[in-house]
Amino acid sequence: MNPLLSRLQPYPFERLRQLHADVTPNPAYKPISLGIGEPRHATPQLIKDALTGSLAGLASYPGTLGEPKLRQTMSDWLARRYGGLKVDMATQILPVNGSREALFALAQTVIDPSQPGATVVCPNPFYQIYEGAALLAGAQPWFAPSEAARNFGIDWAAVPESVWQKTQLLFVCSPGNPTGAVMGLDEWKLLFELSDRYGFVIASDECYSEIYFRDEPPLGGLQAAAQLGRIDFKNLISLTSLSKRSNVPGLRSGFVAGDAALIKSFLLYRTYHGSAMSPIVQTASIAAWADEAHVVDNRAQYREKFAQVTPLLAGVMDVALPDAGFYLWAAIPEVFKGSDTAFSRELLALYNVVVLPGSYLARDAQGVNPGAGRIRMALVAETAECVEAAQRIVQFIQSKVH
Ligand SMILES: Cc1ncc(COP(=O)(O)O)c(C=O)c1O
Repeated sequence: MNPLLSRLQPYPFERLRQLHADVTPNPAYKPISLGIGEPRHATPQLIKDALTGSLAGLASYPGTLGEPKLRQTMSDWLARRYGGLKVDMATQILPVNGSREALFALAQTVIDPSQPGATVVCPNPFYQIYEGAALLAGAQPWFAPSEAARNFGIDWAAVPESVWQKTQLLFVCSPGNPTGAVMGLDEWKLLFELSDRYGFVIASDECYSEIYFRDEPPLGGLQAAAQLGRIDFKNLISLTSLSKRSNVPGLRSGFVAGDAALIKSFLLYRTYHGSAMSPIVQTASIAAWADEAHVVDNRAQYREKFAQVTPLLAGVMDVALPDAGFYLWAAIPEVFKGSDTAFSRELLALYNVVVLPGSYLARDAQGVNPGAGRIRMALVAETAECVEAAQRIVQFIQSKVH
């Protein structure tokens, strides 16, 4: 067996299942889960129609590069979304079967494990695939803590030079899961300078980019690069997905775009890995990327939900409207003595609401677990259900505090 498999950590939801295994939820309440970050708004009819209308595609093998029409639609979307951004559909774009597999596969493409101390820098807390991708590629993850005092941004200047010297890949997530933080142009500028100095690749995970709460849409990595004159996107790959934008987590569709040299190597890797996108999914994806009306509607639903839920919770705990994404990343009140796991267990037992302990989304690293004492709440259910969950959490906290 591949010995690296034994280095993989249990997934947060597996740990949550074990944490709750001996808890009996209060049967007086109907169960509500804010645990898993899976979109639950309805899938737009136009995507379903495109899918069922293209079944003839079952009869042919797809190419890994994807159809030109698909890549053109993706390139057009990037231009519309990011202020006229120019991304060449022939050399700078590849379809992927969701950003998860692409994040993983990109690390396998980029990492040279024969280099001593091969390192992948990840945010902390983070999406667990980054860590698994680094480990299975034969590299060592290094976790850079997000700081509440910086609106959950990361102090990249605090990463030691000895770490950057061994870094081959940097994962960033903007808007962040679980923090919702969006990276600004200054932060990108610093990361590009570091990438130029030390030669590492930046993988920018942007799958929450279309769910935002401010007027200004989140800055994209490629957009930042172009604004700084890096129109070849040197050493940068951005990853995006339809899962959250279009409420199709089951479609498995996204794309990567950026540095043509990286895309070329990634295409080679993917050809052998066998990760071409089904022709049916390609057709449905063209329909989805070409339509913006359903995205505007989806965003409005999240905005309404967050506008109702956030003030309720802010009355009893340290939580604020994030820049973007569909999570609330809250600090638990002092009465819980920092135990996010105890909070999660008791809340389930008394009020039948599931929340994810923040420490499960982070690692103890650089002397801190930046998820400890926090919980993540995914506001993916319908508004009424999320409001009810929030009301129960308010009652729960008030019963503890008084
Ligand atoms: C930060 C982050 N990146 C990537 C993904 C993967 O999404 P998908 O593979 O559906 O595109 C998720 C899914 O929850 C996520 O939270």
